[in-house]
Amino acid sequence: MVQLTLPRNSRIKSGKSWPKPDGKRLKPLQVYRWSPDDGENPRIDTYHVDLDDCGPMVLDALMKIKNDIDPTLTFRRSCREGICGSCAMNIDGTNTLACLKGLDETGSTVKIYPLPHMEVVKDLVPDMTNFFAQHHSIKPWLQTESTDPEREWKQSRDDRVKLDGLYECILCACCSTSCPSYWWNSDRYLGPASLLQAYRWIVDSRDELTGERLDDLEDPFRLYRCHTIMNCAQACPKGLSPAKAIAEIKKLMVERRF
Ligand code: SF4
Ligand code: SF4
Ligand code: FES
Repeated sequence: MVQLTLPRNSRIKSGKSWPKPDGKRLKPLQVYRWSPDDGENPRIDTYHVDLDDCGPMVLDALMKIKNDIDPTLTFRRSCREGICGSCAMNIDGTNTLACLKGLDETGSTVKIYPLPHMEVVKDLVPDMTNFFAQHHSIKPWLQTESTDPEREWKQSRDDRVKLDGLYECILCACCSTSCPSYWWNSDRYLGPASLLQAYRWIVDSRDELTGERLDDLEDPFRLYRCHTIMNCAQACPKGLSPAKAIAEIKKLMVERRF
């Protein structure tokens, strides 16, 4: 029988309202909290930060909360400039990077959840194990059969340009976790991020195992679960289009049959 309601232990409860700091420009944030250690249901806690005493980004607000209000709040971050991909989360209903999302771009109360449809390790930290295993499965490194050159594998400027729009991917998973096909089939469908990365190596003029790479994707689930819904391109905080890369792979699959 189809289950239409969440299991009792995953229903989100209203949580704690933490004490407000002093200040005239208080911004409320509602943040998803869950710990594997206490057997409690997930809950939404409410915090406030004073915008006059906080950096401009959502990540600054989370760090302010962690440093000054609630040290148990758990989230990933590293570079704070959109390069490491670790602060990806769902902010006001959109997957994005907390370090690139301005507090002035958010609603009157900011709503912060972990990336959707992933197992949660704690609070805003999703379990990326499957995501990175899928990335590893597309062999994201140069594969060659020729004798190694004395100095380097060279590439013309024109061939290098073919990697633009692909190499910039920071593996934040905002795209894959916004893709309905990935939500339902993430065990077998590679998802937009890994497929964009796969195409990055397929079009690399220096790689010599293009045929094997395509063989590996010739599968009803790994590639063909993409139904061109395009959520991925809208979600990417780096302005990339995994959907376009996936379409290019499908085109190559057809071309090599003739
Ligand atoms: S275009 Fe494909 S990969 Fe992108 S969101 Fe849609 S189904 Fe997912
Ligand atoms: S394509 Fe964009 S959204 Fe997807 S993992 Fe790469 S940087 Fe993140
Ligand atoms: S902290 Fe590195 S991308 Fe946000």
